[in-house]
Formats: sequence, C-alpha cells, structure tokens
Amino acid sequence: MVETRPEVPMAGVAMTAIGVAVVRVLESDRPDRLYDDPLAQVFVDAAKRGFVETEDGGERWAKLEALADVFYEGRTLSVRLVDDQVTEAVEQGCRQVVVLGAGLDTRAFRLGLPPDIRFFELDLPELFAFKEPILTSVQAVPTCDRRVVGIDLRADWAEALRVNGFRPDLPTHWVDEGVLGYLSRAEALRVAETLTELSTPGSRFGVVRFAADERPAQYSDLRRLVRADPEGERELRGLGPDAQQWLEAHDWHTTFRSWADLIAPFDRPNENSTDVGFIVAVRT
Ligand SMILES: C[S@@+](CC[C@H](N)C(=O)[O-])C[C@H]1O[C@@H](n2cnc3c(N)ncnc32)[C@H](O)[C@@H]1O
Repeated sequence: MVETRPEVPMAGVAMTAIGVAVVRVLESDRPDRLYDDPLAQVFVDAAKRGFVETEDGGERWAKLEALADVFYEGRTLSVRLVDDQVTEAVEQGCRQVVVLGAGLDTRAFRLGLPPDIRFFELDLPELFAFKEPILTSVQAVPTCDRRVVGIDLRADWAEALRVNGFRPDLPTHWVDEGVLGYLSRAEALRVAETLTELSTPGSRFGVVRFAADERPAQYSDLRRLVRADPEGERELRGLGPDAQQWLEAHDWHTTFRSWADLIAPFDRPNENSTDVGFIVAVRT
C-alpha cells in the first residue's frame, strides 16, 4: 500500500467526522457489530498519525477518542438506522442518494448499492482533501456511482450538485446525519428549502429529532475541541423543534418513529427520552 500523508482536519467542523469514524471503528471491532466499516480504521489511522505529529496533537487525539466513547452508544445506532433508511429508500425507488455533510461516510462502498445509483457526498472541500487521497491509496472501489461535491452548505450548493450530475426529476433520498446541527436555524432551513426544491415526488428525507432540552455538556466539550466559534453556542442550531411541522407545510408527508421503537430490534441500551427519534419525510 502507498503511504499517503493527506492534510488532516485537526480543527473546525470537518474534524468532527474523524470522531464518528472512531465510533465506526469501535463498532466494527465488536463480534455483535451492527455494521462493518473497514475503511473507518484506515481513516482513523491516517488521522491519528497527523495528530500525534503536532505539538499538542497527542493530547487532542486522546480527547477526541474520549469524546467518541461518550457519544458511542447513540451515534453507532444512528449509523445503522441510516444504513437501513438508505437501503430501504433505494429498494422503494430512490435512484439518487445525497448525504449532506457526508464526512468519512463509506456507504457507497459498504452497503452494496447497485451501480446505477448515484450517490452524492456533500461536505467541505477540506474534508475531501483528507478523505479522497486515502480512498485512492487503498484502491477503494464504490459499488455505486459515487460523486463527491466539495461545497459549504451555508452557500448556494444546488448548482454544484447539478454540475456533478444530480437530476431533480429522479426520486432522491436525502441524509442528514449530524450536519444540520452545525448550522444556524436560518442556514439549516435554507438547506431544507433547497433540497425541497430539488425533490421530485417520492423523494425522502431522514431527519433526527433531538430532545427539546438544553444542549448537553458533551456538545460543549466537542465544540471546544474542534475550536468552533463560541458565539455559535448561543444560536438555535439545526432545523429546530418544529422540523416536522415545517416539512408538512412544504409538501412532505412525515412519520415519526421514536428512538426506543427504532432500536428495539438491537440489543443495545436506550439513552434517549421518548421525544427523540427519526422523522422520515416523503415528498408528495
Ligand atoms: C459530525 S460530522 C458527521 C459526518 C457524517 N455524516 C457521519 O455521520 O459520519 C459533521 C460533518 O458535517 C460537515 N459540515 C459541517 N458544516 C458544514 C458546512 N457548512 N458545509 C458542508 N459540510 C459541513 C463536517 O465537515 C463534517 O464532516
């Protein structure tokens, strides 16, 4: 294998993707794993090499691993739930998948999606500057038609998606797995408006509904570690508690399933209250 030394995102939101890859490594190592993601280990090894070479990198890496442990139970279950949503959406006729804030997602490689499925990964350019050379170095081959779009979701990204082959006339499955929460309410709603305009009937959008209570301490630790703007802490982030009503008002038919219900088939602890779960929206 050729050794690559891509630029590791060691601060900023792109770094959070490494934390989720650590979670997927932990899961993949379990005999009772909910999914297997061998590429996660490759990303984590490369990221760790980059961290430990810097002055306070060893300490920051240890903090990142500790935070991944804190988030592990909930985060790993949501990886599996999103896996199942993507598979089901494709079985039900979605011909395109768009992962918003894809991070180090490897579903294009590991879910066995058919070659005619266009699988778009949207994230910041610096994330792909780390991810793509690593995938090339291990000659990873997607099963479907994977397309990478380096954009900022706070800007106008629809044109970049179209230029990369997105077809608004085909039903699409949209994934938000932990990105809209990094945007302000206004920015997240603009993303939702844009994807609504790009969604033909039959398209789907999976949205996590969080508890309505205040931000737990581990989120503040995470924001400190990624050195995110502390001002942002005070803003209402993501689609907010009215996401389901907003979707219904914009021609999406929604169903909500509680976290407890969704994870019942898996023998894992439930750390969430009853108002947490997934909203699945289908465009009418
Ligand atoms: C917590 S990670 C989740 C990554 C991936 N969805 C997963 O579950 O493994 C959040 C991701 O959102 C991306 N992100 C945050 N703000 C963004 C923005 N304004 N535009 C595009 N991507 C963004 C980050 O770069 C990061 O990859």
